[in-house]
Amino acid sequence: MSAVTFLTPVTEEIKLVEERMRTQADDSHPDLRAALEHLLAAGGKRIRPTLGLLIGNMLGAPLEKLVTLGAAVELLHTATLVHDDLIDGSLLRRGMATLNARWSPPATVLTGDFLFARAAIAAAETDHLPLMKLFSETLATIVNGELTQMFTSRGLISRDNYYKRIYAKTASLFEMTSRSAAMVSPVDETVVEAMRDFGYQIGMAFQIVDDILDFSGDQATVGKPLGSDLLNGLVTLPAIYYAETNPEDVDVLSLPTGGWTNNENMTRLVDNIRASNATQKAMLEADQHIDNALARLNSMKPCAEHEALENLAKYIVDRKV
Ligand code: IPE
Ligand code: IPE
Ligand code: MG
Ligand code: MG
Repeated sequence: MSAVTFLTPVTEEIKLVEERMRTQADDSHPDLRAALEHLLAAGGKRIRPTLGLLIGNMLGAPLEKLVTLGAAVELLHTATLVHDDLIDGSLLRRGMATLNARWSPPATVLTGDFLFARAAIAAAETDHLPLMKLFSETLATIVNGELTQMFTSRGLISRDNYYKRIYAKTASLFEMTSRSAAMVSPVDETVVEAMRDFGYQIGMAFQIVDDILDFSGDQATVGKPLGSDLLNGLVTLPAIYYAETNPEDVDVLSLPTGGWTNNENMTRLVDNIRASNATQKAMLEADQHIDNALARLNSMKPCAEHEALENLAKYIVDRKV
């Protein structure tokens, strides 16, 4: 399934979101403008604003609020990627050089900060206090998740820790986007809750698939360095499944005591995980989240956006990028 099948109802509206993002640096330093231009030109799937637009349009929200929400969410997402790539030392994103590959760390940090600030301004421009509150809480959740990952989760083989981490760093933003789009729509609390859970479910699936792609993806297609999670000490779902079936594997045993710092051993472990059925098992979990998400849509009336949301949910587990 290609992205086209869920983008069609909002192609024009996504352009408005991008325009809104582009104007964010209008009156700032030329280097900041150039950096934002570079980030925007690199593209990205725009899956989060698409999600907000589809849900809001389905539920009858005013377009202006959805465009503003979309810009806020995508700016926040972009800011987290700018910092994430600096932290991970990643040089490639969306098939292009990252900011940290071209700029100093201080300039990269400040650009990320600028994007966070502009994201907050955009959130405020929705003029919806509960939405702004939710937006800030989500940002706090993401940052807290990243810090937890950095300080207490490296080399740790734990399902519970894994699910908490992927909720914090990824699913929380999908959840926030879906819930917010419903909150600015003329619908009651049960619908808001259904859409919140829809976002949660596809967000969990989204990060599980991202973690699978780190093992089984094609680097040129994905456009970012692969095989890197374990080298960063991040034990994701495929590695957890592998560890559960191969508890005596020397590389698995080495993980909690810092074995992930050894490149050669981790390359061997990545190869072994690739050759096992661990990624397929992880994919079944992502599929389960998508089934849960689709069940939430069932109660909504049929319309073009409804169908597009179904396709978006299915795309998340079919995607190669
Ligand atoms: C990448 O998100 C970061 C994760 C949460 C896994 P996307 O895969 O949505 O990145 P872009 O925006 O399409 O590049
Ligand atoms: C996304 O997780 C992290 C944030 C969005 C904060 P990853 O670290 O897995 O993202 P990629 O794989 O670099 O895109
Ligand atoms: Mg990363
Ligand atoms: Mg990843």
